[in-house]
Amino acid sequence: MARVTWGLATSHVPSIGAAMDRGKTQDPYWKPLFDGYAPARAWMARHTPDVAIVVYNDHANGIDLSTTPTFAIGTAASYQVADEGWGRRPVPAVTGAPELSDHLVESLVDDSFDVTVYQELDVDHGLTVPLSVYCPEPGDAWPCKVIPIVVNVIQYPQPSAARCLALGRALGRALRSYPEDLEVAVFGTGGMSQQLAGDRAGLINQAFDRMFLDAIEDDPEKLARMTREEYIRDAGSEGIELIMWLVMRGAMGPGIRRVHETYHVPASNTAAGMVLLENLG
Ligand code: DHB
Ligand code: FE
Repeated sequence: MARVTWGLATSHVPSIGAAMDRGKTQDPYWKPLFDGYAPARAWMARHTPDVAIVVYNDHANGIDLSTTPTFAIGTAASYQVADEGWGRRPVPAVTGAPELSDHLVESLVDDSFDVTVYQELDVDHGLTVPLSVYCPEPGDAWPCKVIPIVVNVIQYPQPSAARCLALGRALGRALRSYPEDLEVAVFGTGGMSQQLAGDRAGLINQAFDRMFLDAIEDDPEKLARMTREEYIRDAGSEGIELIMWLVMRGAMGPGIRRVHETYHVPASNTAAGMVLLENLG
């Protein structure tokens, strides 16, 4: 079986990647954020998975806005880094795990999650920044294979938080039914509170974020009961990215241990958070 060994929830703010790409992580603006990541990075470096399943959203870079799948999964052997308008990030292309992807598609569809399939996909900052948060110096290749799971959080109607938690649980079942022994990490990405445009641009709600950081560990059902309107009201129009953390949480077993948590305001216009959970079964 494929076993989820750990889950990482992290913001995917593009400038976090740019700070790494341009050697600015020790600048006074960025140092506190990257210092906060250090214990988690050290732990993850000692627990390299075979495959990372990265639950993320595309920002109209790899997927044209004329088509908006609610949930999608990549089945490619490799994924190029998207050019978001100023050239590709100088990070390695992503190696896929097509056999496990095909198994996940079949198992999720049989479990009533009719996912869209991407046989080709360029991955944007929503996926590459979390990989850089995990592994700051990948060299020529990322340390593990990667399967992208894409969630629509940018066009109404986004899936409910409850549906995201249920998708994670179905993902956990799908992994447990895989015939080969594999160690898998699951990433839930995006957030935390943020609004990039409109009257409330710059919105950050630290009280909400702190509540969310606690509940993602202890009470994901509470987060799953919130409506999309409540997410947008409390966390901002892009803060609804947080529903993707629930997919990660749902894929983990009932027994978890928090390895590390960090929260920093601001990263760009955004509250940046990270939670690393070890799966105890
Ligand atoms: C920012 C945050 C995001 O999640 C994103 O996708 C783009 C920009 C920001 O805070 O700058
Ligand atoms: Fe985003």
